[in-house]
Amino acid sequence: METADPAPARPLLEVNNLQVRLGHPPIEAVRGVGFDLRKGEILGLAGESGSGKSVTAFALTRLLPLGAYARYEGSVRLQGRKDNLLTTNRQTLRKIRQRRLRYIFQEPSASFHPLFTIGKQLEEVLRLSSRLSRRRAREQAAAALSEVGIDPKPAVFNAFPSMFSGGMLQRLAIACALCGEPEILIADEPTTALDTTTQKRIIGLLQDLNRRRGLATLFISHDLSLLYQICDRLLVMQEGRIVESGPAGEVLRQPAHPYTRQLVDAIPRLRTG
Ligand SMILES: Nc1ncnc2c1ncn2[C@@H]1O[C@H](COP(=O)(O)OP(=O)(O)OP(=O)(O)O)[C@@H](O)[C@H]1O
Ligand SMILES: [Mg+2]
Repeated sequence: METADPAPARPLLEVNNLQVRLGHPPIEAVRGVGFDLRKGEILGLAGESGSGKSVTAFALTRLLPLGAYARYEGSVRLQGRKDNLLTTNRQTLRKIRQRRLRYIFQEPSASFHPLFTIGKQLEEVLRLSSRLSRRRAREQAAAALSEVGIDPKPAVFNAFPSMFSGGMLQRLAIACALCGEPEILIADEPTTALDTTTQKRIIGLLQDLNRRRGLATLFISHDLSLLYQICDRLLVMQEGRIVESGPAGEVLRQPAHPYTRQLVDAIPRLRTG
């Protein structure tokens, strides 16, 4: 007897016709963006400065850019939920940010409160996301630190964020994001603030985690050669719109849109490669 092919799994995140207006008078920062994010993939989001990459990332859980009065239209849906994150209540959103979708920012210090120790902050994430006892939370925090290559010794738990280098702090931010056992990571220029060697290590770590944990990662960068190396699929944004999308290798080797071509032409290695 013939069996029907199983229906393809729904994406972990589906974004449709996302529009974001910011400020007074409003500017249209994001103008009808749509994409989906699937388990196990790294999806790149490219585009020059001001094209709307960060506002798109923030909008997924209605995080406001600093000082912005934002209005959202369209829909953002997570697998297994019927509600639209653009209209759902704030408490639900907070839980989603703790448990299912976590951010890693350009500036590692943005992930931490300066006045609490690293240990306290890791444990807090764990207690909020899975209501663990203090002891269990400490054990899991230690496991997350080991996963990002940091020895989970008391000196790390008892230190304040300002006591770490940028690269170390970004590792800690990734550990912190992992503590909530998220399915989705949104990494907004996570290595731009770091030196090249540290950058490579952090990228390797994110790739490795994506594979090992079967995460879905949205990786934002204006560095096309980096995106070429690490992404499965790529979206290219210009002036608030996605102008091109597809498998990263195809998009960058044979760009169809003039804007993508222009971006690619600025990278000699890709142009000739
Ligand atoms: N807080 C804000 N208030 C008003 N406008 C904002 C605010 N934050 C961003 N914008 C505007 O929204 C548009 C998109 O900005 P966004 O930060 O998403 O760009 P980006 O692609 O992330 O750029 P970059 O590569 O420099 O990070 C820009 O025109 C920017 O000026
Ligand atoms: Mg940005």
